[in-house]
Amino acid sequence: MKVLVTGGAGYIGSHTVLTLKSAGYDVLIYDNFSNSSQAVLERLEELSGEAIPFVEGDIRDQERLDDLFQQHSIDSVIHFAGLKAVGESVLKPIEYYDNNVSGTVTLLKAMKKAGVKNIVFSSSATVYGSNNQVPFTEGMPTSATNPYGYSKVMIEQILSDVAKSDPEWTITLLRYFNPIGAHKSGRIGELPNGVPNNLMPYITQVAVGKLDHLRVFGNDYDTVDGTGVRDYIHVLDLARGHVKALQKNAAVKGVKTYNLGTGEGVSVLQLVQAFEKYNDIKIPYEIVERRDGDIATCYASCEKAQRELGFTTEESLKDMVVDSWRWQKQNPKGYEQ
Ligand code: NAD
Ligand code: UD1
Repeated sequence: MKVLVTGGAGYIGSHTVLTLKSAGYDVLIYDNFSNSSQAVLERLEELSGEAIPFVEGDIRDQERLDDLFQQHSIDSVIHFAGLKAVGESVLKPIEYYDNNVSGTVTLLKAMKKAGVKNIVFSSSATVYGSNNQVPFTEGMPTSATNPYGYSKVMIEQILSDVAKSDPEWTITLLRYFNPIGAHKSGRIGELPNGVPNNLMPYITQVAVGKLDHLRVFGNDYDTVDGTGVRDYIHVLDLARGHVKALQKNAAVKGVKTYNLGTGEGVSVLQLVQAFEKYNDIKIPYEIVERRDGDIATCYASCEKAQRELGFTTEESLKDMVVDSWRWQKQNPKGYEQ
């Protein structure tokens, strides 16, 4: 069984590639390295014991994708490739819709032509928007507040329409909550571009001394301690969720949507405290204004993924903070040592 992994050199893709290899799948990475380093391929080889085949290319390049599907006998696709920075998407909507939406349509055209009708797509909890009540369940209405979020809402719609048009398609929409953590080896992990927007990479960069202190965006939310609550999931659990989805995919046609989270809400200060406790490092912080577009609380109902995919998480909050720190500490300059 050969799986094409678009965006396989990125944060979640690279961990999923290793989990797929361990589960016995053949893997082919397709990535344009716009937000990743080719050096990750050496690390993947080191960790899996064999070179992972890859093709450098863009998901918007129809010709290249057509060639790829002709040259390789691909059974299914896990589609991670895309741009993911919320703030940047507001400044560069055309680039975001082009990469994420047009890129996905181009990929789907190549898949249709090649008769490969099996895809797992990286969606996001962001599609629950700001008007639903927690815990978020898959049947709730979707919406967005920025071009990144809209690109996910649109792609979910496109994939659902494709599934409706042709019963041969197997489509799985995975809505990730907040992925953090890294591989236990400390050899692969998240590589934010510039100053991180997300909480965990910001904390690890404060811990390593790259950034001075954390700014906590608001402590007047209606939550346990006033700070924002999120559902953090270890990237290794997320990777396992993809393998479960593929295994399920083999038997079920049509479109299926699953949350991938832990179902546990953790506040900003609780995450900081866990990081400090388990890594024995102080994280200086100050409370500042709320960040535009943030919601108070976001966590998943995990019932459907558990019932239908047999998916449950294995990693604890301690694993998440320890593994995130190991990766940062061992790779202060990312992949370029
Ligand atoms: P990432 O940026 O680390 O990985 C994405 C990979 O796709 C990178 O290697 C990048 O070079 C590649 N890529 C981007 N545009 C491409 C294109 N046009 N053609 C070919 N390759 C391209 O991001 P990630 O955190 O691993 O996220 C993977 C997916 O999961 C994304 O679709 C993202 O929107 C989604 N997601 C991420 C999070 C998160 O917090 N990390 C949360 C929810 C959903
Ligand atoms: C953000 C995105 C979301 C995306 C998700 C995963 C926004 C508005 N939302 O969500 O669309 O799917 O990342 O990539 O950008 N925090 C601080 N200080 C910081 C950073 C964050 O206090 O320096 C707080 C936030 O206010 C929030 C929590 O930490 O309460 C988590 O933030 P973050 O990691 O950015 O994730 P989300 O806000 O869930």
